[in-house]
Amino acid sequence: MPKPRRIAPSILAADFARLGAQVSEVVDAGARVIHVDIMDGHFVPPLSMGPQVLSALVELGLPDVQYDVHLMVERPEKYVADFAKAGAWNITVHAEATPHLNYAVQQIREHGCSAGVAVCPSTPLDVFRELDVDLALCMTVNPGWGGQSFIPASAAKIARLRELLGEEVELEVDGGIDVDTAPTASEAGASLFVAGSAVFGAPDPGQAYRDILAAAGV
Ligand code: DX5
Ligand code: ZN
Repeated sequence: MPKPRRIAPSILAADFARLGAQVSEVVDAGARVIHVDIMDGHFVPPLSMGPQVLSALVELGLPDVQYDVHLMVERPEKYVADFAKAGAWNITVHAEATPHLNYAVQQIREHGCSAGVAVCPSTPLDVFRELDVDLALCMTVNPGWGGQSFIPASAAKIARLRELLGEEVELEVDGGIDVDTAPTASEAGASLFVAGSAVFGAPDPGQAYRDILAAAGV
């Protein structure tokens, strides 16, 4: 059975001064996964936010909402405990960011979270042959910035990744996802679609969320 398609709005593109209200808007529209991008200024050039922001969102107490933490940081295993404590549902670490990926996945599970592994566009998928993950994240842009265009070669990569993972594992795509690219990623086998600027850059984020969900084919 193919996994249901879900959209994860990324708060990176939200208005930080109105973060709680913006998240509530997409949750009211039906979103149940919220994507939280963590950047350290090393693995990727920008800085974004730390676990305090996640804690603040969790404390809003929005029912049934899962927070999906994407760690774009070097040696992510050092931060797993902090984000688990702050209330993450899933924690994703980059394959390129640590020589101890198996250990990082183990740590995430020991802290009671779903364990994700991400690969950049130029990283081969071989790592997923050696690891058992709950979620595989295929970057469809180079990590570090919102608002970039979906890399066309990603479609074939997503399809290869789906074949490798089987039907049960969550396959997340991140970068340049909107109503035009979501169908391509969905046909290739993606199940969880991160959308930042296409949701929070739209005049009505709730409507934009619903439009992308429809485009992904739910
Ligand atoms: C990029 C981040 C993304 C970002 C996506 O490095 O990992 O999650 O928020 O932004 P859009 O949807 O604007 O490409
Ligand atoms: Zn992300």
